[in-house]
Amino acid sequence: MKKVDVILGLQWGDEGKGKVVDVLTPRYEVVARFQGGPNAGHTLEFGGEKYVLRSIPSGIFQGGKPNVIGNGVVLDAILFRAEAEELARSGHDLTRQLFISKKAHLILPTHRVLDAAYEAAKGSAKIGTTGKGIGPTYTDKVSRNGMRVGDLLSPDFEAIYAAAKERHVKILRSLDYRYDITELEKEWFDAVEYLRRFRIVDSEYFINECLREGRSVLAEGAQGTLLDVDFGSYPFVTSSNTVCAGACTGLGVAPNRIGEVYGIFKAYCTRVGSGPFPTELFDETGAELRRVGHEFGAVTGRERRCGWLDLVALKYSIMINGVTQLIMMKSDVMNGFDTIRVATEYAIGGARTAQFPYTVTDDLQPVYTDFEGWKCDLRDCRTYEEFPAAFKRYVEFIERETGVPVKIISVGPDRGETIVRE
Ligand code: GDP
Ligand code: IMO
Ligand code: MG
Repeated sequence: MKKVDVILGLQWGDEGKGKVVDVLTPRYEVVARFQGGPNAGHTLEFGGEKYVLRSIPSGIFQGGKPNVIGNGVVLDAILFRAEAEELARSGHDLTRQLFISKKAHLILPTHRVLDAAYEAAKGSAKIGTTGKGIGPTYTDKVSRNGMRVGDLLSPDFEAIYAAAKERHVKILRSLDYRYDITELEKEWFDAVEYLRRFRIVDSEYFINECLREGRSVLAEGAQGTLLDVDFGSYPFVTSSNTVCAGACTGLGVAPNRIGEVYGIFKAYCTRVGSGPFPTELFDETGAELRRVGHEFGAVTGRERRCGWLDLVALKYSIMINGVTQLIMMKSDVMNGFDTIRVATEYAIGGARTAQFPYTVTDDLQPVYTDFEGWKCDLRDCRTYEEFPAAFKRYVEFIERETGVPVKIISVGPDRGETIVRE
């Protein structure tokens, strides 16, 4: 019986998961998303084209293989339709290739409104959500009030919707929040009809059947470990388990069926939205990372906050996920830097720690190790051996500190700009 390999982000999202899933898909027969929803924006570039996927797994461009939207995902029918129709226009009809779990929860128009209303009510302590209704939809799931894709097949579909909406309307009234969803609601019902064209399945049976038949499955995470609802910088997190265990609950795969765990990280750090970020740079270097790395949200267009690589946080993420292979992205962004810094510890008050703390307080100061920059274009290198010595020192330091090999190094957004170490 095969195992499921998992690929997930080790920082605050946007590590480059979309690109790497696309690069790895030729090694797999099935690709599955296990959590999150259209808060994700996974970018893929090849053949001079650029695609941003939000709910659809990033394995769809490699040979018509089955791609699965698992039960752990929350699906907005309107955004899903827009995404699928755009792909169809560019020649990628997914109706036979895409399998959607009956148990995935639906994001309703009122969930989006609730997301905005809760954020508005938070005043200055806003999370900076993507506004896609993610939190309210997962809240309904856990409080056993949710609506699932499988409800589409029920004769009571409209009644289930009406009951959910009624509850939301009461909450919105209590928050004194004004909104108008007349158009959105119409669009949603049309989009829900559109969903019926796809294969709505018991995806846990589908995936386990694949494994029994010896087919290889790659599970694609969204967001990143530091946005995990349990282990992230709570409450500045998303509402799902972005960690490896989320692949078990989000696909119906037993823990002993997990194989490789690929952990993706940027050679520096970014974060979008509010919340602690120990190595954040507020100076010209931060602005340079943002400018060269095009660090603007794929979904919201918001500026991403930028800073140095944080090994305290990275080691924490590796521990929580049981990472077996590291994948380093966007090293090329630092091609022109004289000095590159990496946080190896935190100083808090008079004490030093190598653990990610329960809360990040104002007196926390990262302790840095400095590296000489490589000062050349990594995009010219096609094998690990061709990389400059200064860059190899950086990679090998990370490997020594974490105890995990860096197996893939990405030096540009294109599919081809990827160095795989055997
Ligand atoms: P994801 O959410 O983890 O899939 O990442 P995003 O797509 O939100 O953000 C990653 C961004 O970096 C995208 O614009 C990618 O095209 C781009 N990218 C990925 N890998 C590299 C790389 O190695 N170098 C550069 N310069 N850009 C990259
Ligand atoms: P990908 O998959 C980066 C952030 C939001 C906000 C917090 C909660 O592209 O890496 P939510 O809408 O989920 O309730 O927002 O999480 N966030 C992301 N940041 N990449 C993502 O996805 C994100 N998805 C959510 O900015 O701070
Ligand atoms: Mg993204």
